[in-house]
Amino acid sequence: MVSTKAPEDAYTAQPFVPEGARGLPALRRAAAECRGCPLHRNATQTVFGAGNAHARVMLVGEQPGDQEDRQGKPFVGPAGRLLDRALHEAGIDPAEAYVTNAVKHFKFTQAEPRKRRIHKAPTLREMTACGPWLAAELAVVEPELIVILGATAGKALLGSSFRVGEVRGALLEREIHGRPERLVATVHPSSVLRAQDEDRKAAYEGLVADLKVAARALS
Ligand code: URA
Ligand code: SF4
Repeated sequence: MVSTKAPEDAYTAQPFVPEGARGLPALRRAAAECRGCPLHRNATQTVFGAGNAHARVMLVGEQPGDQEDRQGKPFVGPAGRLLDRALHEAGIDPAEAYVTNAVKHFKFTQAEPRKRRIHKAPTLREMTACGPWLAAELAVVEPELIVILGATAGKALLGSSFRVGEVRGALLEREIHGRPERLVATVHPSSVLRAQDEDRKAAYEGLVADLKVAARALS
């Protein structure tokens, strides 16, 4: 019997990405219409990257959270506030950076309508589907350094065997989409917020220490 359902591994943003190197506004407009995987169905809007188009540093998170989904901008909720504070402390001006996510739609569970929406981690298939947007952002911004915020961003950029704990705080050099890139990986700022009270200070300091490695790599 012929199935009318597209195979799940056909999930990809690629047909929605405009051909050729255009600027970020054209990419952002196209991404707003992306139907490359099922995550667009329940989310409010595509949350594309934001910030300085000529940034020397690109920060890559996981996916928009509840606030980002409502406002349409990355890292504007609690994790973003913590990240901004850590960046300032490490000597990186958040306003000079380009900030984006591996996955551009908010994935969540919700027990009932009107109940709080709970973040759900994207699958490898969803990260892979969304990868063409991240590749397009990299091709336009051409940052000198990529900061990987957590496992999802790491897997999206460096493959599924990526483990934050193994590489965090080191300056890495890897080829991504045929271009040599410099990267520094650290934990996701949300993991600092989730840490138990007694562990939170150390988790935050670890994030700042890794970001200082990124700041030195840029100096
Ligand atoms: N967490 C992320 O990974 N990205 C955001 O934009 C917000 C929270
Ligand atoms: Fe497209 Fe990415 Fe949204 Fe999936 S998550 S619909 S691939 S923008």
